[in-house]
Amino acid sequence: MLIRRSASAVRVWAPAKVNLFLEVLARRADGYHELATLMLAVSLYDTLEFTEEPTGATVLHCDHPSLSTGPDNLICRAVELARRESGRSDGVGIRLWKRIPMAAGLAGGSSDAAATLAGLNRLWRLGWSCGKMARLGAELGSDVSFFFAAPVAWCTGRGEQIEPLRLGRPLDLVLVAPSVGLSTAEVFRGVTVPTEPRSGAAVRQAAAEGDVEELGRQLHNRLQPAAERLSPDVAELCARLLSLGPAGQLMTGSGSTVFALCRSPGEALSLARDLNSARDELNGARVFVVGSCD
Ligand code: C5P
Repeated sequence: MLIRRSASAVRVWAPAKVNLFLEVLARRADGYHELATLMLAVSLYDTLEFTEEPTGATVLHCDHPSLSTGPDNLICRAVELARRESGRSDGVGIRLWKRIPMAAGLAGGSSDAAATLAGLNRLWRLGWSCGKMARLGAELGSDVSFFFAAPVAWCTGRGEQIEPLRLGRPLDLVLVAPSVGLSTAEVFRGVTVPTEPRSGAAVRQAAAEGDVEELGRQLHNRLQPAAERLSPDVAELCARLLSLGPAGQLMTGSGSTVFALCRSPGEALSLARDLNSARDELNGARVFVVGSCD
């Protein structure tokens, strides 16, 4: 995440993530699932701007009409958490420019929450470390902590235990986000926990070596069959990506976005062009050409 401070405001660019590998290890007594997942931050960003708010309130404005700006929004919950933890009672004005598709497996809401902790840390000069913000973020959602270890991390537990990794080379991807999203909880309810979970050793090695062909072969998401049962778009769009010959294709997180892993920026652009030339067959899905974040 990128943070810039001016005289009167703090701006944060909050990236989306994709899961290059996601295995479900067990169902837990608390209703969550034990995961092993390789997460990658990519260059599709929401932008948040934080300013002092003299009324003492939290005032959130968003350019996306269907997103709630009330206390249920994860951004507002992050503000409350930061107030409680820091003992501050200052008001804050927040503007959100939403570009990351919602309910799409791209962790846009989680990234906004992480950006809020980081933005307030800067605005209020709290001096919190990334480790502290990652621990706080875990209280807001399973994917929030990752954004303090991005761009690449091996995540376990609910997804909140983070081991930063090295990426052998920058990656080029095309994201295809269907017009209809999926509920994370509903997808997890439909998952079958494997008796023999797949090891992540090979995918980690391919990522570290920057071996895109091998990474393409190792892409795996245990949630995909459950998501495909809920949304026909997922299987259809993945088959379309496969026909265009990238190094690999997969659904990210709990869907509904699918992505192609490409061998070069040129291949990603040409694949996106091919998808867009048959726009009417995409069922309203949006196409984004992205790279791994630095
Ligand atoms: O943590 P978060 O609020 O993002 O999770 C949303 C829902 O996804 C949870 O309520 C749970 O149903 C499901 N989930 C899960 N196991 C995880 C992460 C999420 O079952 N590791």
